[in-house]
Amino acid sequence: MNSQLDEAVAVLKRGGLVAFPTETVYGLGADAGNPAAIGKLYAAKGRPADHPVIVHVAGTANLNEWAREISPVARRLAQRFWPGPLTLILKRAPGVSDAITGGQDTVGLRIPSHPVAHALLEKFGGGIAAPSANRFGRVSATLAEHVRREFGAAVDFVFDGGECDVGIESTIVDVTGAAPVLLRPGHITARDIEQAAGIALAAPTAHSPRAPGTLAAHYAPATPLLVMEGDLLLELAATLTRQGKRVAVLARSALQPVLAGVVWIAAPQEAPQYAHDLYANLRTLDSAGCDALLVEELPQGPDWAAVNDRLLRAAAGARPSSTA
Ligand code: TXA
Ligand code: MG
Repeated sequence: MNSQLDEAVAVLKRGGLVAFPTETVYGLGADAGNPAAIGKLYAAKGRPADHPVIVHVAGTANLNEWAREISPVARRLAQRFWPGPLTLILKRAPGVSDAITGGQDTVGLRIPSHPVAHALLEKFGGGIAAPSANRFGRVSATLAEHVRREFGAAVDFVFDGGECDVGIESTIVDVTGAAPVLLRPGHITARDIEQAAGIALAAPTAHSPRAPGTLAAHYAPATPLLVMEGDLLLELAATLTRQGKRVAVLARSALQPVLAGVVWIAAPQEAPQYAHDLYANLRTLDSAGCDALLVEELPQGPDWAAVNDRLLRAAAGARPSSTA
């Protein structure tokens, strides 16, 4: 890992883009202190300039470089979940560039636990701005190979650290107000946050920071994606294949029918494993050249909230004409 580490740090220092693994998904990293590098990052992702990026840091030692007015609730959450798959939205410190915050008065911070991400941050020494390593609005990457395929030469270096454990992006909590607000559900659940914070989550208000990654259309494959109940899914798959269409299916139940023209993935039963495999499964099914991607509806409830959130947005975004 040492030669990859040296090269990654050198690329970051000269303002280049480095994709690297975190415990959630791969990040597309740039020196958070270098606005030109951040500009490259936005260009590579095709991301609008007013969508802020998360700053990743190695530890809490230099938090004040990035954030101000860190509340007791924020400290409790940081203490309990960092390093780990949690992003805190804090008031930004003076000097943090608009290029990172999208012009907002807040900054998203995360201390990742993945050994590669951690080593990279330690060795680099500064903050690394890193959105998920996918083109804007598309499916996130959980393998180095996903990143290479998606970006090619637009990324200067891809640090291959194997597959990501969690598989979906970090939980995002806004801790700038009196009560924390959940902006994006993740592996760390709403219940986990409330327990650690010692205070109930508040609903987002008009004053809550915008989290544009929570756009209705996001995480989308190119194949039209529909989420539906199992029996309906079987009926539709049968109808479509009768019409000569090819159908991709992501289902949890063992109801796989014998149908020609169906590409079927049996997804794990438990939410964490389902999340771990989700983006790789969506990418596999998306590349199968099918006319539709049918996903079996999942249970409701807190354990499935993050995965349901991603699937709803993937369904909303999977339109050939989508600009999200
Ligand atoms: O797990 C993750 O969070 C991954 C890994 C690489 O750390 N990163 C990630 O970044 O998912 P991204 O850019 O794909 O999603 C971050 C979300 C975006 O929706 C962005 O709008 C929101 O965080 N965000 C970042 N800074 C923010 C801020 N200051 N206020 C509100 N939302 C913010
Ligand atoms: Mg993203």
